[in-house]
Amino acid sequence: MTNWLGLSGRTCIVTGARGGLGLAITEAFLEVGARVLMLDLPGEGPAPGVPQTLARFDDDVAFAPVNVGDCASVVEAFANCQTLLGAPAVLVNNAALSGPAPLSDLDLEVWQTQMNVNVGGYLRCAQAFRLARDSAEPGAIINIASIAGRNAQPNSGGYAMGKAAILMLNQQLAVEWGPEGIRSNSVSPGLFRTPLTERFYEDPQDLRHREEVVPMRRIGKGQELAEAVVYLASQRASYVNGAELIVDGGFSQTLMGHIPRSYQKG
Ligand SMILES: NC(=O)c1ccc[n+]([C@@H]2O[C@H](COP(=O)([O-])OP(=O)(O)OC[C@H]3O[C@@H](n4cnc5c(N)ncnc54)[C@H](O)[C@@H]3O)[C@@H](O)[C@H]2O)c1
Repeated sequence: MTNWLGLSGRTCIVTGARGGLGLAITEAFLEVGARVLMLDLPGEGPAPGVPQTLARFDDDVAFAPVNVGDCASVVEAFANCQTLLGAPAVLVNNAALSGPAPLSDLDLEVWQTQMNVNVGGYLRCAQAFRLARDSAEPGAIINIASIAGRNAQPNSGGYAMGKAAILMLNQQLAVEWGPEGIRSNSVSPGLFRTPLTERFYEDPQDLRHREEVVPMRRIGKGQELAEAVVYLASQRASYVNGAELIVDGGFSQTLMGHIPRSYQKG
């Protein structure tokens, strides 16, 4: 069973790797023997490095600053990958911003900034990955989308439009770059507790309500999302291209349960 996933020693780039799901994805790749270049914003103060919790992976993990909203920054970060860990075989597009607002009040400049990161950033990194990878080896891109890309909700239209665009970007990449040996697939998370979503869980009552609407009656764990990503990146998914894998405990399947039915009375 050694290297069953075919990821041992292969270099994976994860964007937004310092955050909740990106960090879990990074750790999951390292656990199966892959090497990971963590990309994230430089932040304030001295440039951040690999978090202490990943120190045990030694030379298999490195950090490079990037702003995925900026072309020059992305080109530089991907050039660094070759020097730090070798040519990448896997890209996980994960870095994104939220920005709740009803469409009636959505500031178009704020929305354009969000789209430049949440959609432009994914395309920019995909293009840089295509040029940086070793074209003799199979390549895989995993685009982190969201169940919000298919399901409308109040106060989140700007974000949801971006996630819908990612689902189509994923399909386009699968068709356009499949012939070059690059598979592209998307993963759509449901409810996960991370810095991006923390404010929705601060009130214990909100947490309970959120748990109750999920058929599995709980919020997802980062590791559960990360393992879906590892599968799609691996050789075990060698003929999976253009797919969307929904990881939401069944939440997006609950629509019909809202229909009032007379036999449910009493
Ligand atoms: N948490 C959830 O419930 C949930 C649900 C559905 C989809 N998602 C998606 O999962 C992905 C990860 O979300 P998360 O909850 O871990 O968010 P998070 O905010 O915890 O992490 C996002 C990371 O992206 C980085 N980032 C933001 N802008 C960047 C930029 N311009 N350049 C480089 N890095 C940048 C941030 O610094 C942060 O580390 C996102 O694509 C998000 O839309 C999350």
